[in-house]
Amino acid sequence: MGDGVTAVVASAPGKCILFGEHAVVFGQPAVAVALEQRLTVALSPAKSWSVDGSALSPEKHPHIVMLRDRYLGENAAPMALHLQGDIPRASGLGSSAALSAAVGAAMAHLAHPDQALDRDQLSELAHRAEANAQMGRASPMDTSTSVEGGIVVLSDVHETVAHHAYTRTLTTPEGERRWEVHRLKAPEDEVYLVLGNTGVHAPTSHQVALVAETVNKHPERMNEILAIGAVARRGLEALTQGDYEAVGRAMSENHLLLRGLGASSPELEGLIQAALPTSLGVKLTGAGGGGCMVALTRTPKATSEAIELAGGRTLVSRLGNEGVRLERAP
Ligand code: PMV
Repeated sequence: MGDGVTAVVASAPGKCILFGEHAVVFGQPAVAVALEQRLTVALSPAKSWSVDGSALSPEKHPHIVMLRDRYLGENAAPMALHLQGDIPRASGLGSSAALSAAVGAAMAHLAHPDQALDRDQLSELAHRAEANAQMGRASPMDTSTSVEGGIVVLSDVHETVAHHAYTRTLTTPEGERRWEVHRLKAPEDEVYLVLGNTGVHAPTSHQVALVAETVNKHPERMNEILAIGAVARRGLEALTQGDYEAVGRAMSENHLLLRGLGASSPELEGLIQAALPTSLGVKLTGAGGGGCMVALTRTPKATSEAIELAGGRTLVSRLGNEGVRLERAP
């Protein structure tokens, strides 16, 4: 337990994928948006390390342990961590990366209270912490979006429409992996994302294996992966121009391609059908098979109600929210 004196509070946003999930595994661009929904962590001095009352353990909290060791050292004065927030867990909205980003920012501040947050270092460490917690496999999409905020584009190549920010590499069980990470600015408008959660849990690794199997068995289906890449680039272009009608059309096209590759589910299709009449575009977001869908809409209330009537739980967010930030420091 903490002693009641909160030392530092930091928060970080969740994310949703607007374009390019699954195709990004094959090198195509993917676009992620930081959500309004955030995870907040408060750190207070305590007698021993804990997370919401349970002892900090390398098995349960490998990413937190790694960030602590890196920023503060193993023998740092113990802290009690308290988590709060509105990002649902295990539904593809990046709650784990948001936790790494917020914990990292809070610990960076404890280590160097007089220095501004080094976002580049934090996104790299948070990515390594996530990869470490996921058997060496994690793209930097969730951590970069949570740290940077706004709209982030990941690709195997430099994308001309977006601003190149940095290169990330990782040694995975399958070999060396390399990603080009970009930032993208989109003009503001009265448009909203409505996320509909099916409540069905489908592990990302299973979904990725499913799509990989389809493409390996039928090499000509690589064309559909390339088509997702082309649609994502069209969506990117439309985003930079603030043409949200075109963004919506690209999202719906992206969904049809994902559905063709077997990444959707009856529950997702039900929510997507319900959202279509009031939306500019609708698709599954993340790995699919369950998890969430996302609608781009100018009438978030009507879209939300339609999704809820079809049995989904909804969240509403504007596009392009702030990345990780310190909320309170002594
Ligand atoms: O639902 P999430 O955030 O786990 O998204 C997975 C995105 C995939 O492209 C399917 C996998 C990946 O590692 O990029």
